[in-house]
Amino acid sequence: MPFYSEKVMEHFQNPRNVGEIKDADGIGEVGNPVCGDMMTFYIKVKENKLEDVKFKTFGCGAAIAVSSMVSELAKGKTIDEAIKITNASVAQELGGLPPNKMHCSNLGADALHKAIENYRKKSGEKK
Ligand code: FES
Repeated sequence: MPFYSEKVMEHFQNPRNVGEIKDADGIGEVGNPVCGDMMTFYIKVKENKLEDVKFKTFGCGAAIAVSSMVSELAKGKTIDEAIKITNASVAQELGGLPPNKMHCSNLGADALHKAIENYRKKSGEKK
């Protein structure tokens, strides 16, 4: 059995939505205390939907695959739907991760949720 699922390998080799949104509506940054890796998510919100999602990840292959999967799952979703994406559901979508790499998956949904919180704070302030 391969160490990583095919889906993980595929997302690692062709990560979707890599980059930065210059005029992002929300930004979420998390670091992994276990390894020191970092992940930043940028979201653009329109009519309560995540119109665009991008990320920058300085991390291992699993972290990159997880970011890519989170960005794909979140794009086009409403804020309420996106907030329901969990670390566990992301790992599941990727066909699982090796046990010693599960901590890497914990960054993905956390960074997305932080970006949403950041957006909510900002849009709340505007009102
Ligand atoms: Fe750091 Fe995977 S080893 S996120």
